[in-house]
Amino acid sequence: TAGHDVIDIRTLGSTGYFTHDPGFMATSSCESKITYIDGEEGILLHRGYAIDDLAFNAEYLEVCYIILYGDAPSKEQYAQFKATVHKHTMVHEQFASFFKGFRRDSHPMAILCGVSGALAAFYHDSLDVTNQRHREISAFRLLSKMPTIAAMCYKYSIGQPFVYPDNSLSYAGNFLKMMFSVPCEDYVVNPVIEKAMDRIFTLHADHEQNASTSTVRLAGSSGANPFACIAAGIASLWGPAHGGANEACLTMLLEIGTVDRIPEFIARAKDKEDPFRLMGFGHRVYKSKDPRATVMRQSCHEVLKELNTNDPLLDVAMELERIALEDPYFIEKKLYPNVDFYSGITLRAIGIPVSMFTVIFALGRTVGWIAHWNEMLSQPGQKISRPRQLYTGEAHRPFIKIDDRD
Ligand code: ACO
Repeated sequence: TAGHDVIDIRTLGSTGYFTHDPGFMATSSCESKITYIDGEEGILLHRGYAIDDLAFNAEYLEVCYIILYGDAPSKEQYAQFKATVHKHTMVHEQFASFFKGFRRDSHPMAILCGVSGALAAFYHDSLDVTNQRHREISAFRLLSKMPTIAAMCYKYSIGQPFVYPDNSLSYAGNFLKMMFSVPCEDYVVNPVIEKAMDRIFTLHADHEQNASTSTVRLAGSSGANPFACIAAGIASLWGPAHGGANEACLTMLLEIGTVDRIPEFIARAKDKEDPFRLMGFGHRVYKSKDPRATVMRQSCHEVLKELNTNDPLLDVAMELERIALEDPYFIEKKLYPNVDFYSGITLRAIGIPVSMFTVIFALGRTVGWIAHWNEMLSQPGQKISRPRQLYTGEAHRPFIKIDDRD
């Protein structure tokens, strides 16, 4: 547990005592074998494999297999896994009509929340969460359909026709094609962009008990169906303190605009009277570098070089990072760039609109949500999650009927 002592307090419940820990600053909610984080050392491992090792040497779908099944697959296992993912990439044709109920100018995350939960209405043959086979089919459906749905959110918002999945492409390549191809033109996937997209998915694949994953586990602990649980996770992810930070970070970089305005924003971030925070900085668990941010930074440079893009926001981001890392406030509070700091610039260069950034995070994180949901339901003696509270309201008092009140 990353240098922390653990006190197992499971017995306290029966004695009438409970702990009070707002924000879960020091509370472990479950046992898990999926992801290990050492926030002091900046280490992130999935099933024992380091995140940079995975990001540079494995495809996203291979990482998905590892996260879901616990070990790196053999070539045969991986081929079988990919074939099953491909089998489920289409969505029910009626799904297209369902989209039409949304306003075209809706935020894609609002649509994603709604349509993900609604998958339960389309795929209700696999909703028995006590049945391991049902859980597995639902897992494949979510993993396979999420790129299709995410791209549909985008196409709907710009008024273009939906693009069917192309299973001859990689997971990332297929997503790019569904996002950017139009019926009247050929679309060829750029391998550098494809690799960068794949890496972005890998970097977001899982991160133990973050707010959205804990939400999925909590929702699932009541036996709720997986599609509803994932919709709950998507809703939690949307907040700017969590997955919404990538969108908020790019908006902030655009607002800063030029390097000479950085000191003004650094000063605002330190001013306790000002609610402004430097988006893309800080993390509940990492108190040194976020290892995902290091990989993301490198990917960002590769993409900009490939596309021959000279984005002034990159200069702003790099200078902001340099100044913040030398600033006593940021050093004292242990605030380092997190994964969202460079992902926005990379996504922007790829041509992904800002409103789709958090959708892409959700797409990459879906595997983590499913793995945690499945792990929880597979554990013997699994209980409904039901935290207690510290009541600070009125003491017991008599109710006076309305006619007798002043
Ligand atoms: N800019 C300026 N000051 C900050 C920042 C920031 N980005 N983050 C934290 N601080 C300060 C707080 O003001 C607080 O100061 P205080 O001790 O004087 O009150 C101190 O650092 C601790 O901050 P908390 O909010 O208590 O830390 P917490 O662990 O609860 O929050 C969080 C972590 C939400 C990520 C926070 O750092 C933040 O808001 N960052 C910006 C949003 C962001 O980038 N989120 C993405 C997280 S990564 C992800 O979800 C993939």
